[in-house]
Amino acid sequence: MIAYDKLFLMPTSGCKSTKYSAAIPTRARCRLEAYSAIMSIAHEIKHARRVVALTGAGISAESGLGTFRGKDGLWSKYDPAVVASIESFTRDPRKFWEFAREIGWIFLTAKPNAAHIALAELETMKRLDYVITQNVDGLHQRAGSKRVIEIHGNAGRVICTRCLAECATEKIVDRIAREDVPSCDRCGGSLKPDVILFGEPLPKRAFDLALKKVKSADLLIAVGTSLEVYPAASLPEIAKKSGARIISIDSERTGWDDLCDYKVSGPAGEILPRIVQAIRITF
Ligand code: OAD
Repeated sequence: MIAYDKLFLMPTSGCKSTKYSAAIPTRARCRLEAYSAIMSIAHEIKHARRVVALTGAGISAESGLGTFRGKDGLWSKYDPAVVASIESFTRDPRKFWEFAREIGWIFLTAKPNAAHIALAELETMKRLDYVITQNVDGLHQRAGSKRVIEIHGNAGRVICTRCLAECATEKIVDRIAREDVPSCDRCGGSLKPDVILFGEPLPKRAFDLALKKVKSADLLIAVGTSLEVYPAASLPEIAKKSGARIISIDSERTGWDDLCDYKVSGPAGEILPRIVQAIRITF
């Protein structure tokens, strides 16, 4: 893992030249390059007209929430077609609720981390127009972000599949623990969290707004997403075609790195606060 703690003490000039590079150890060179990328990203954000962020499960990893893909991801232990598709939910909602109980609904008690807070600060500084999120944990709003577009719904609400009545998930946690499939007080229908399962269309208003924001952005910052699920995965490409520059902050290499103008590898909870700090103190 790259150490970021001393980044702001380091010079950047010449760090990519062969002569200079050969003279410094690889680890230090990585730090210089990361520092340089952070400063460049800060500069891009400061001078962009309209910035949007697109976030995925990785931004909530430092709040203790699991990601979906990768070695320890949820989908390496559970088959999403069985536990998280609308087809299987319609056939037998018990499988979904079993899975929900097993993962423990940890997002109900999770707290926003430094990455969520940094994006909320960027909004307050008027440097970030919207956060478009694939996450259903509500942590951006709890960090203080006001302009959040949730394209996969929000697990903080449950909805009756029969009469469409809504209620807050926290009000029925006892029943989730007790009942195989929690049912609606009003009509007895099966309750389903207000999130998009595989095979369901995205909420039209939210996705249309996301498309509009992406098309009018001149900078898109993707944070902690593998971009393996469509249509969310198409958003950076649409932004790029509309002329935006693309930044990725992710702890790993991803399949879409080639699309990016800047890529910083590392934990979002360390990198995003550095970027905010750089915007505050420079340029
Ligand atoms: P993934 O699990 O596919 O990807 C998470 C990304 O976060 C990976 O690229 C990790 O490398 C990265 N990551 C992990 N920890 C990080 C950290 N601390 N800082 C920065 N990056 C980190 O999650 P999503 O891309 O969000 O959909 O998945 C998209 C959709 O697939 C989800 O919304 C969900 C899922 O199936 C539905 O359920 C409909």
